[in-house]
Amino acid sequence: MEFMLNGQRVTIDDAHSDTSILYILRNDFQLNGPKYGCGVGECGACTIHIDGVAARSCSVPAHAVAGKQVTTLEGLAQGGQLHPVQQGFIDEQAAQCGYCTNGMIMTLVALFRRAPQATEQQIKDELAFNLCRCGTHLEILRAAQKAREIIAGGPQS
Ligand code: FES
Repeated sequence: MEFMLNGQRVTIDDAHSDTSILYILRNDFQLNGPKYGCGVGECGACTIHIDGVAARSCSVPAHAVAGKQVTTLEGLAQGGQLHPVQQGFIDEQAAQCGYCTNGMIMTLVALFRRAPQATEQQIKDELAFNLCRCGTHLEILRAAQKAREIIAGGPQS
């Protein structure tokens, strides 16, 4: 079974087609950006993009990505330059334990792809189902706003 992983064509054994793609990314490809949190699609820690859309990789069997474009946190940087959302998280120090950070970033990148000028409320709505237990919510929102300004080319409402 083949799919594109962070821009590279990869193959996995058909025998693993029912295994969650999260395990395959972490164990076979050593891509540890996506995290195992709840394992049932509720927390968002495992978020990846499938054909550019945010998906909870713990709940996606490998066969569902056959022939598709899979992007992980490790695949966001372009030409050695972090994605504006990644840079925003660093600049705003938007993590405590960092376990949710992958999901927050992947969710925001997918949002800004669909809606480069997403409003504050759209950002909050989009992140509502990404759980964070530490309490860096204000820093996360500031990181999102900073990224949106870069992506949309200026301050927004
Ligand atoms: Fe996938 Fe929680 S680990 S949503």
